[in-house]
Amino acid sequence: MIDTARLKAWLRRYAELIHVHKDELTALDATIGDADHGTNMDRGMQAVLHILGDEEDANENIRPAELLKQVAMVLISKVGGASGPLYGTAFLRMAQAVGEKEQLNEEDIAQMFAAGLNGMKERGKADLGDKTMVDAYARAVSALSSSLAEGFPLKESLAQAISAAKEGSDQTIPLIARKGRASYLGERSRGHRDPGSLSTVYLFEAALVFAGEGEINHA
Ligand SMILES: Nc1ncnc2c1ncn2[C@@H]1O[C@H](COP(=O)(O)OP(=O)(O)O)[C@@H](O)[C@H]1O
Ligand SMILES: [Mg+2]
Repeated sequence: MIDTARLKAWLRRYAELIHVHKDELTALDATIGDADHGTNMDRGMQAVLHILGDEEDANENIRPAELLKQVAMVLISKVGGASGPLYGTAFLRMAQAVGEKEQLNEEDIAQMFAAGLNGMKERGKADLGDKTMVDAYARAVSALSSSLAEGFPLKESLAQAISAAKEGSDQTIPLIARKGRASYLGERSRGHRDPGSLSTVYLFEAALVFAGEGEINHA
């Protein structure tokens, strides 16, 4: 079962992955945006780290929903790009999805991510194929829920979700952007990976901590 402490471990891992890949994300955004996606996300996730407190912190007794809501608020106020409100809305919907639960099972986790996707799509009015983070996120959500439905354990299902997110991100490369800053480039957005699709890959990669997977090889 996944409790608030596990969710915090996920967020710490996400902050770490964003930090490590900050320049890569910014370089992608330099090509089809305004060169700030890595710095935006890193600023946001460093601020999230602040509210998580220490590993042994006493405030573990807040409910998952409260934590997710706090994260949403931090991202909305600190990220300062389109991605802030998009991830922020996703976290807000995740909070609503988990409701009053203290512990989340695999199904709750799948529903949490699915609710986040709906929030992100509504907020950005984007759908699959628009060359955004939704291309990675939506594929991850489908893979996660179908893999769990087929009876695979959480660890394998998350691995499926990560692969699907990566494929979704790869698939943004030949697309013409229809949403966000990159859409101003029209045809010229073709041939480049969407930066937000890659930060979403890391969101799911970090989620391996839900399956007790602590360390991930960066190579
Ligand atoms: N309407 C939208 N719906 C979904 N995702 C979007 C939308 N607009 C932008 N994005 C995502 O946000 C990313 C850019 O984030 P960021 O660079 O932080 O913000 P900004 O575009 O304001 O500089 C894009 O790569 C894309 O994945
Ligand atoms: Mg940008």
